[in-house]
Amino acid sequence: MRHPKILVLAGSIRGGSINTRLAAAMTKELALADAEVTRITLADYPLPIYNGDLEDEHGVPEAAKTLARLFLEHHGVLIVTPEYNASIPALLKNTLDWMSRRGAVGEPYESPFHNRVFAISAATNGQFGGIRALMTLRPILELGLGATVIPDQLALARAGDAFNRTSSVSEEPAAGTLRRVTSRLVEEAVRYTL
Ligand SMILES: Cc1cc2nc3c(=O)[nH]c(=O)nc-3n(C[C@H](O)[C@H](O)[C@H](O)COP(=O)(O)O)c2cc1C
Repeated sequence: MRHPKILVLAGSIRGGSINTRLAAAMTKELALADAEVTRITLADYPLPIYNGDLEDEHGVPEAAKTLARLFLEHHGVLIVTPEYNASIPALLKNTLDWMSRRGAVGEPYESPFHNRVFAISAATNGQFGGIRALMTLRPILELGLGATVIPDQLALARAGDAFNRTSSVSEEPAAGTLRRVTSRLVEEAVRYTL
């Protein structure tokens, strides 16, 4: 089997972020499933809040261009997001908005959201596991950006407790869901290596 390249990022840059911890746990599982994994933090790609005047004057910031190039270099992308007020954090939305601008990619233009496969997951300390963030993120990716997103997703509830006991997700049914998401993402990403 070919080894697909998968990019992993979390929608939080907070020290001690439970989503970063989930992203790390999923990275391990992706590697076990034979993917070549790159995990990044959005802290390394700071972007101003999108403003059309800023774009007209200065173009798309380098950080968004670098991120778009990174997406283009991978066959799959896993986004692990916090839930903020029943939606996704501004950090993640703003990053996707800048990346969606044509100027994020040079010529010939190729969308960083097409021709690769996406998976999404979330972690919260509450009992719903960020399901509303996932319900927001999925249409942004699919309808807004034209991405293909696998149907499997993990909404990890009470994540703080889970990670206090161990750095992995060990309890069922979450552990099984995590493995399903990562193995399906690798399976689908392999198609884009051909
Ligand atoms: C502005 C804000 C809004 C939040 N809204 C929600 C919410 O709607 N649902 C939820 O389960 N948790 C909510 N939380 C709690 C987050 O899930 C919690 O802070 C989580 O740890 C953030 O993810 P992180 O640890 O990866 O940074 C909110 C937190 C903040 C700061």
